[in-house]
Amino acid sequence: MEEKLRKIVNQIAYTQKLSSLSPLHLSLIPLLFLSSSLYKFAQSFRHTLYHFGFLRKHRLPVPVISVGNLTWGGNGKTPMVEFIANWLANDVGVSPLILTRGYGGADEAKMLQRHFNGTSVKIGVGANRAATAASFLHRYGFVDITHFEKPTKPIPKSQVVYDKIGVAILDDGMQHISMFRDLEIVMVNALSPWGNHQLLPFGPLREPLTSFSRADAVVIHHADMVQDHSLSDIESRILETNRFLLIYLSAATPSHFFRAPNISSRLPLDTVFEKTVLCVSAIGSPSSFVQRIEKMGVLYVDSLDYSDHHQFQTKDIETIKERLQNLKNKFGSKPAIVVTEKDYDRDNEILRGLDPFEVFVLCCKLQILRHNGCSEDTFKMLLTRSLS
Ligand SMILES: *[C@@H]1O[C@H](CO)[C@@H](O)[C@H](O)[C@H]1NC(C)=O
Ligand SMILES: *[C@@H]1O[C@H](CO)[C@@H](O)[C@H](O)[C@H]1NC(C)=O
Ligand SMILES: *[C@@H]1O[C@H](CO)[C@@H](O)[C@H](O)[C@H]1NC(C)=O
Repeated sequence: MEEKLRKIVNQIAYTQKLSSLSPLHLSLIPLLFLSSSLYKFAQSFRHTLYHFGFLRKHRLPVPVISVGNLTWGGNGKTPMVEFIANWLANDVGVSPLILTRGYGGADEAKMLQRHFNGTSVKIGVGANRAATAASFLHRYGFVDITHFEKPTKPIPKSQVVYDKIGVAILDDGMQHISMFRDLEIVMVNALSPWGNHQLLPFGPLREPLTSFSRADAVVIHHADMVQDHSLSDIESRILETNRFLLIYLSAATPSHFFRAPNISSRLPLDTVFEKTVLCVSAIGSPSSFVQRIEKMGVLYVDSLDYSDHHQFQTKDIETIKERLQNLKNKFGSKPAIVVTEKDYDRDNEILRGLDPFEVFVLCCKLQILRHNGCSEDTFKMLLTRSLS
């Protein structure tokens, strides 16, 4: 029931033409519209309180980089957090603390923990990010990175995890305005930038587009998957709200697969070449995932999309198996299942129920694309400036 309602609300949020909706969809609109208005009022009231100093922003003793979103789902927020953490740990040589809420079964937090296991990157999970930060800063200590010299020798692996914290990365920081930040990055999904332009829950927007005025830089994710004219439309819409904003483009570039549950099996992308594939996902932007798999020269792609962060249940596993059996009957060979890393990390135990079908997990890395004089290098320069 809940899944069904979520789907309906999602359909309303992403439709441009109300006339294409069913009577059931239409009957929900007044309620959604009212909630949207209340939400908008509450948001702007909160901003006013901070603006005039009735509420005070909490300041951490280390620089804070915030990565946020205005709409729900699929905008590359977690891959961006990972990109920045990697840069800090490997290029700059300081230990970052990622502050994340651990939303929706904590799939994103679990993925970060798996990727940064045994490195100097610390991951603080909790809804109260100021409290989480305080406990980590107390446990590990912190360094003033304005007087920081990159170590000339690599730090021995045994000491790396005890490194003092130099920078905090605020995951999903846009709405978390109670914490002071030195750099505000907002992610936008090129494939569905703002849906019907309405606020939650009527539309996908968590804040009006004018909130871009608070940002320092916007990164348009999945930029490689849309036409140039759509990109220009998105860019001009953003610049209307703040013409000094820096706009970067990024892409989720597939790197390899692993065969579940063996996370150290590194399989090349042609593993699915000329295979029948069922893409199963519960992520914010399933179409981008399916399109990536289609481009890998597969024989046939079928897909099952669940809403973002959906916890797979035994009955879902049965549905997936039925779909696989149909594909097997139709094409004669055993189909493979492909999921994203986030789906794998949400609950990898339940995926074992798909045996004897093989489950491949697609791994991607965020890349900054060259565009109008912006590149990975200029992006790193922007990050560097925010630290001093
Ligand atoms: C955008 O923010 C919402 C609310 O915090 C979150 O549920 C969603 O996962 C975010 N989007 C992404 C891609 O993380
Ligand atoms: C981290 O690695 C250790 C051993 O290398 C392993 O036992 C542990 O389960 C890993 N933790 C996570 C969160 O992946
Ligand atoms: C996992 O994959 C690695 C690399 O291919 C391999 O060496 C290892 O034996 C595999 N482990 C299991 C349990 O299959």
